[in-house]
Formats: sequence, C-alpha cells, structure tokens
Amino acid sequence: MRGAERPPSPVGPAERDDLALMEGYHSPQLDVAVRLNTNEAPEAPPREFVEALTRSLGKVEWNRYPDRAASELRARVAEREGLAPDQVFAANGSNEVLQTLCLAFGGPGRAAAVFEPTYALHSHIPRTTGTRVVVGERAADFTLDLNEVERVLAEAEPAITFLCSPNNPTGMVEAADTVERVLEEVIRIGGILVVDEAYGQFAARSALSMVADDLPVVVTRTYSKTWSMAAVRLGYMAGPASVVSTLEKVVLPYHLGTMTQIAGIVALDFVEQMKARVAALVEERGRLLASLTELPVEVWPSEANFILFRPLGMSGARVWRELVERSVLVRDCSSWPRLRDCLRVTVGTPEEDNAFLDALSTVLLGGTEGA
Ligand SMILES: Cc1ncc(COP(=O)(O)O)c(C=O)c1O
Repeated sequence: MRGAERPPSPVGPAERDDLALMEGYHSPQLDVAVRLNTNEAPEAPPREFVEALTRSLGKVEWNRYPDRAASELRARVAEREGLAPDQVFAANGSNEVLQTLCLAFGGPGRAAAVFEPTYALHSHIPRTTGTRVVVGERAADFTLDLNEVERVLAEAEPAITFLCSPNNPTGMVEAADTVERVLEEVIRIGGILVVDEAYGQFAARSALSMVADDLPVVVTRTYSKTWSMAAVRLGYMAGPASVVSTLEKVVLPYHLGTMTQIAGIVALDFVEQMKARVAALVEERGRLLASLTELPVEVWPSEANFILFRPLGMSGARVWRELVERSVLVRDCSSWPRLRDCLRVTVGTPEEDNAFLDALSTVLLGGTEGA
C-alpha cells in the first residue's frame, strides 16, 4: 500500500523509453460550484431515457459476455447516420476509437499528422501506440493552412492524418472543400484521414456524407457531449467496411459492455430530446459569445459547446486562478502550444454561464460580483 501523497516507487521492468518522456493526459477537476472545463453537457438526459434504460437493464443476462459485434447498436447507429452496419465501429468513448485506429494503422515506423492547436489526445494517443507524431501549424487565425497540410503530408507521409471539426479548443469547423482537399492529399500518400466530430451535432457542417467504402476517410463521434452521456463512455466511427474490419482485429474481445451497448441503443429512441438540448445549447452559446465580446477579451467564434478566449491586460493563468477562487472552473489552455494566455469555457446552463460571466467581469474589471 502507498500513502496518498507519495509518488509510487517503480517496480518491475523499466517503462518503455518513449513513455518515460511522456506526461499523461490530465484535466484537473476541482471541487467548485460551476464546472465548465471538460465540455460535458450541462443537463442530464431526460428522465424517460433513464426509466427506459433501467427497464432494459432488468433483462440483461449478467452471467453472459456482451454481444461481441455490438450488432444492434451498430445497426441502429448506421440507420441514423445513413450507413450500413458494417460501416460502423463502436467503442468505449471516441478516444478508444482513436486508440484502435492508431493500433491498427499506426505503430513503430509509422506517423500521424496533427495541425496545432488541436485536441491534445490526437498526439498523445498515437505516441502511446508507438506512432511518431508530426506537427503542422494552423494559420495565425487558427484556420487550416492547406499549403502546410500539403507540406507536412508530402514530407512525412503519415499513415494517419487527424482533423478535428469543430476543432477543440478553437471551436472552428473545417469547410467542406478544405476536408476534400486534405483527403486528396491523404489519398496521394496512401494514408487515412480521421475527422474527429466529437462536437459535430453543434455545427452546421459534417464530413459524414463523405464516408464511403472506397474512400480512406473516417468520422468519429461520441455520446459524451450532445447525448449528455459522458458517464457511459460510448463513441463510434463511421468509415469504410474494410477499415471497420481491420479495427476488429486489434480491439479486445468483448470490449464494449452490455450496459454500454444498451445505453447507446436506448438513447436513440430520444433523438428529438437530444436535438432540443443541442438547439438550446447553440442558442446559449450565442448569448455567451455576445456577452464575452463586451469584456476585455479576445474571443473566437465557435461551432461547438465551448468558447476559446484570451483575457487582455491580465495573464490567462492569473484569470484562471481568480475564477477558481470564485468557484468557477474553466480549462486553462494558457501553456498549450500556440495558445498563450487562452482559456476555454464550456457552454453551461444559463445560470452557470451567468456565474462565470459575473466572476470574469469582476476579475477583469474589478466590479462587484452579481452587479
Ligand atoms: C475533439 C475530441 N475528441 C474526442 C473526445 C473524447 O470523447 P469521448 O468521451 O467520446 O472519449 C473529446 C473529449 O473531450 C474531444 O474534445
């Protein structure tokens, strides 16, 4: 047994050399009143969903392994997205989908390309699978620079190229012709394009319509955000049937538990409620953005459920600390590559967002809280 504060002493073989240099992925959680740091949905799914799920769980054969192929879930997701069931792969969160893609198509001697700033796990997951990461730069306004994409792909010939749309943490969606141009380059080098649409339903555009059996493009989605089901850990990928069958070779048998599969199936009976929650969040995002533009911050428009901003006249780290002192937690991106002084706030309930805006005004303008 070890004490709570002491770092564990190493035991057994030394860890892999490439892991020794890596830091794990951390998103600090603090005990605060208003948590707007991990892009979760602010509201739970409807009570009717929980009741229907509870009824379905009553029928589970607990002594049996789950349906290894997750057939019903995949069929239902496929039906909803206009795909064939063999074009859908499901896993424990879209992060596990990304990991399975890296296990299947990355690994020693292969590379994955990312365009920073973007989702940190698009670099972290490849590294944990022994995949070299090649980093391209976005333009100063965070849009994707196609010349840079061309350069990185021609030089490194990555097996995997990641795009994130809407991009975390900038909130921007890639234009359809941009994704098409990137795909052309990916095809030229014989790679695969992964479009991470964890926030896809909050945006006006999606790459899902590009998915076809003869194109090396996959789109990943999650139940964690729009479906208000972060606790479940369920995500999926839409892609060519041949890619799905390759992923099935590397994923652990029975990786997706029966409860998870059932939760994903039952949720699909509540699509209208999901759409209503998303529409409300999109409206609230507009209000939050408008309020932020009245404060001394630089702010980027967003098509996701979060907004990136940079306080002016005060360091991002200090603003983050002062918000925590007022029991409001946002994501501190101020030390991330190319995001000096930036913070990211998740769109919450109107009450949570008001608490955040009040605290931020007080920190930046020195006003009276609640005024
Ligand atoms: C861009 C992006 N992709 C994937 C994920 C992971 O989602 P999941 O909960 O499905 O693993 C996140 C979570 O924050 C994300 O921001």
